[in-house]
Amino acid sequence: MEVDKKDERESESSEQVVNPWEVSAKDGGKIDYDKLIDKFGCQRLDESLIDRVQRLTSRQPHVFLRRGVFFAHRDFNEILDAYEKGDKFYLYTGRGPSSEALHLGHLIPFMFTKYLQEAFKVPLVIQLTDDEKCMWKNLSVEESQRLARENAKDIIACGFDVTKTFIFSDFDYVGGAFYKNMVKVSKCVTLNKAMGIFGFSGEDHIGKLSFPPVQAVPSFPSSFPHLFPGKDNLRCLIPCAIDQDPYFRMTRDVAPRLGYSKPALIESSFFPALQGENGKMSASDPNSAIYVTDTAKDIKNKINRYAFSGGQDSVEKHRELGANLEVDIPVKYLSFFLEDDSELEHIKKEYGEGRMLTGEVKKRLTEVLTEMVERHRRSRAAVTDEMVDAFMAVRPLPSMFE
Ligand code: TRP
Repeated sequence: MEVDKKDERESESSEQVVNPWEVSAKDGGKIDYDKLIDKFGCQRLDESLIDRVQRLTSRQPHVFLRRGVFFAHRDFNEILDAYEKGDKFYLYTGRGPSSEALHLGHLIPFMFTKYLQEAFKVPLVIQLTDDEKCMWKNLSVEESQRLARENAKDIIACGFDVTKTFIFSDFDYVGGAFYKNMVKVSKCVTLNKAMGIFGFSGEDHIGKLSFPPVQAVPSFPSSFPHLFPGKDNLRCLIPCAIDQDPYFRMTRDVAPRLGYSKPALIESSFFPALQGENGKMSASDPNSAIYVTDTAKDIKNKINRYAFSGGQDSVEKHRELGANLEVDIPVKYLSFFLEDDSELEHIKKEYGEGRMLTGEVKKRLTEVLTEMVERHRRSRAAVTDEMVDAFMAVRPLPSMFE
């Protein structure tokens, strides 16, 4: 298998673990992303690639690129090479609908994908893995399907273009050409390999074992005959959080054996919990994250009470020493969502040198997030059932490359 230096299941809890089901840092510390790049064998997304994106799209690269939120890739340079020569590609991303309300971390891949779709003018497929969550989360088939549709509304609210976007639920769409590709992929992956990549054990039910091909095949244009007929060589770019990498390592490994191109990837770090940067947010603790359903008051309270501060204990000490920006969550959150580069720099400087206090930074963050969440709420409220049906209809996308 390609550059997959250490496939084995990590059992020692003192080691960093990152896979689609578990994200935890070594000894409760921060995720070591450099180590992850080495271990997974992906590439760092460097300045020169970001400059190329700017040149090719004639617009300022998204904040998430400028500030290194999307920090790793596989073959993104090849996608840009082809694009430069006039060859388009398509985007593929997805969501496992495990909960009703999304938090800010869930929106990140979709906000970024929307930017990519607009900047490159390319079609997009969004997979809702209701089957995956039904198998992993002890949800009924019906409940998973309901959540998929609810989550589709939040995704649509991010502003995707219906003339370029196909959203599908696995329960509804799997079959036909998609299923044929799943069977082809399945035949190329041994049980040993799957256990190595995903850490499955003999105690896991066989539904889990059967799932990875479902997430793999949207990487192949022939899985969507209504979208890409005769375009079997169209390349695929997948924006995702880096915990999804195992699925696509497997996909890239089998692709050449099926005569298909490997999908390219652009991968993000994790959005930290309010309590600090040691992994992802926890669905079981509502105070660890800001949800798109939170009221202005919830947001203010959560930030004031729970956002981990790098400021000093007393004002005198703070004025003298300044804040430790490395561990400060309000600054970290602002670096994701405050668009204005110069304002962000100003805050970092003033706060880092003790002239600005934690309370002031938290106040600015509260404004930024309240505005964002309000905007999302308005936009979601405007998403009708007819719109969901329109995005999810199996149909050609006539203007998808314009
Ligand atoms: N497994 C992902 C999750 O649990 C959902 C998903 C399916 C996905 N296909 C994807 C995520 C492609 C990113 C890219 O959220």
